[in-house]
Amino acid sequence: MQSFKNQESLVTEKSYTREDWQEGYQSLTQEFDYWIDDIEGEIPKELEGTLFRNGPGLLDVNGQLIHHPFDGDGMISKITFTNGRAHFRNRFVHTTGYLAEQKAGKILYRGTFGTQKPGGWLANIFDFKLKNIANTNVIYWGGKLLALWEAAEAHRLDPYTLETLGKEYFNGVLSTGEAFAAHPRLEKNCEEDGGAPCLVNFSIKPGLSTTINIFELNPAGEIVRQHAHIIRGFCFIHDFVITPNYCIFFQNPVTFNPIPFVLGIRAAGECIKFQPNQPTQIIIIPRFPKEGQEKIKVLETHSGFVFHHVNAFEVGEEVLIDSICYQNFPEVEPQSDFRQSDFEAFSPGQLWRFYLNLKDGTVRRELIDGRCCEFSSIHPANVGRSYRYLYMGAAHAETGNAPLQALLKIDLESGERQLWSVAPRGFVGEPIFVPRPDCEKEDDGWVLALVYDAADHRSDLVILDASDFSKGAISRLHLKHHIPYGLHGSFTSEVFGEI
Ligand code: CO
Repeated sequence: MQSFKNQESLVTEKSYTREDWQEGYQSLTQEFDYWIDDIEGEIPKELEGTLFRNGPGLLDVNGQLIHHPFDGDGMISKITFTNGRAHFRNRFVHTTGYLAEQKAGKILYRGTFGTQKPGGWLANIFDFKLKNIANTNVIYWGGKLLALWEAAEAHRLDPYTLETLGKEYFNGVLSTGEAFAAHPRLEKNCEEDGGAPCLVNFSIKPGLSTTINIFELNPAGEIVRQHAHIIRGFCFIHDFVITPNYCIFFQNPVTFNPIPFVLGIRAAGECIKFQPNQPTQIIIIPRFPKEGQEKIKVLETHSGFVFHHVNAFEVGEEVLIDSICYQNFPEVEPQSDFRQSDFEAFSPGQLWRFYLNLKDGTVRRELIDGRCCEFSSIHPANVGRSYRYLYMGAAHAETGNAPLQALLKIDLESGERQLWSVAPRGFVGEPIFVPRPDCEKEDDGWVLALVYDAADHRSDLVILDASDFSKGAISRLHLKHHIPYGLHGSFTSEVFGEI
């Protein structure tokens, strides 16, 4: 691995150029279907199943630029692994907004994170139409492939062809417009359900006070439990964690001033203001509320901002939560262009462990790793349970804020770190840990991730041996094109091959 530290002057050179990084944010308008033939190394024979990924496929509509990648239309990529081979397919989610804008050839909707219709504030004033862009996550559960976006309904897709089949209401349990968040947690052995797997998700209805709805789904994809809770104040919550007994949310200290949004001057996401002097509220909701039991516990910790958690588990009276924390919320400004982002002007996401004492209500925290990181993955059997290994996207350099150019494995027991870097011209997305069938050791499996390679302006799917990153990529599948930087995805052992 190359070192970019200049020891003499103690000046750390950047491990990337902004120009290279920007290239990964070009739209991908084409939809592909092909067997991947350009492969370095070998695809492990035991790796059978399908990797689904979601993210903004379009960063412009017919040349009109999207203001923030979170506003880009959802595009699903699918890589099917079978008999040592891999097949690629990508399709856009055919949301109402995507179809209308493609037909019109221009932006018709205001985006949550700053995309405005052309024509200034007059064209945007009093327009509260929400564009469900289905761009954040994709899961296969209960026989259904679902593209998720946190503020509205899930879109159901055909897992073979990726054709959009419509919005998903779970047999009418959810109503029109009701959200199904983008960060479900899958508990492998739910005691309440006799050891069957259970998918836990939520929805947030923000306002002066906020409603958190919790949904638990059985393996048939039916909502078998749901309960709603009112929380004081405005909530901007993207992710949560579960344990066998609790759902836990971090209520980031932010306020929302809707006036510039109503007037068409700012997008909703640009009206969020971080409050550095306010604490983070930790909301603990029992998963199986019982008569006479206190419904919600709220604890407090330092001010900070969390998009994503890694995992949580119970130890006696304590709940431990590992989360990626920022010093503050990277506010989006109307005049700014994310393509010109100055990474050094922002604080990095760092991995912290929180210890919640449910008995005396105290919270202490410790920094696990100060390296800039995002997007974590663990062994799927350990969700909500104590665990040893985690995998994340990380910066190449140990300090400072920078794009993700490396995959980092942390052994929480021994403290050992393994870093695999693709700097200077590579940029990584979310890693996903896939256990080897019948594995016994927690890190016996593979880590799959998409890497954007600026040198060739294309993306690779890399496969690492999770037990030993020092081997490098055991397989590197070169795609014929790039995939714009994505958000989340998932792996299923079901093989959705060619039909
Ligand atoms: Co997320």
